[in-house]
Amino acid sequence: MNVGIITVSDRASAGEYEDEGGPALRREVQARGWKVVAQALVPDDKGQIQEAIRSFCAQGCGLVLTTGGTGIAARDVTPEAVREIMRLEIPGFGELMRMRSFDITPNAVLSRGLAAVVDTALVITLPGKPAGAVECLGFVEGAIPHAVKLCIGEPTSC
Ligand code: MTE
Repeated sequence: MNVGIITVSDRASAGEYEDEGGPALRREVQARGWKVVAQALVPDDKGQIQEAIRSFCAQGCGLVLTTGGTGIAARDVTPEAVREIMRLEIPGFGELMRMRSFDITPNAVLSRGLAAVVDTALVITLPGKPAGAVECLGFVEGAIPHAVKLCIGEPTSC
């Protein structure tokens, strides 16, 4: 499976601190035997988030993971950026990520993370904290291979 990873952070993209979420997700993706074919670091800007997602779809990513900007701070716009370009949302991913994460931290309810189909890719928006992004990916990973097959139009067992 070809995967694109996008870190969404004003401060990391300005070089104020190092991006740890992107590399953490890269390790997780590779540990599952999936292939990272594109990686980007963008500010909390809807246009730049959308451009990165669309470019990764065009490069053949069946799965695009974003980390950051899912919360309620003034600059958090990742869910809105995805909703503006998606074909459809898959609510179960966000529901499951919040429900399972709530056992770890009550702040999990502050994430508006979602999954959606954009062009021919499954896009999952994960929280910005590296541990949170990794945890949420783990909660939904079971459904990812089948969802990606459907997105890219491969035959499935159902
Ligand atoms: N989910 C998990 N599993 N683990 C976490 O540490 N952090 C929460 C939440 N979801 C967290 C989590 C916090 S503190 C916030 S503010 C929201 O995700 C939104 O984070 P973001 O704006 O960086 O995307």
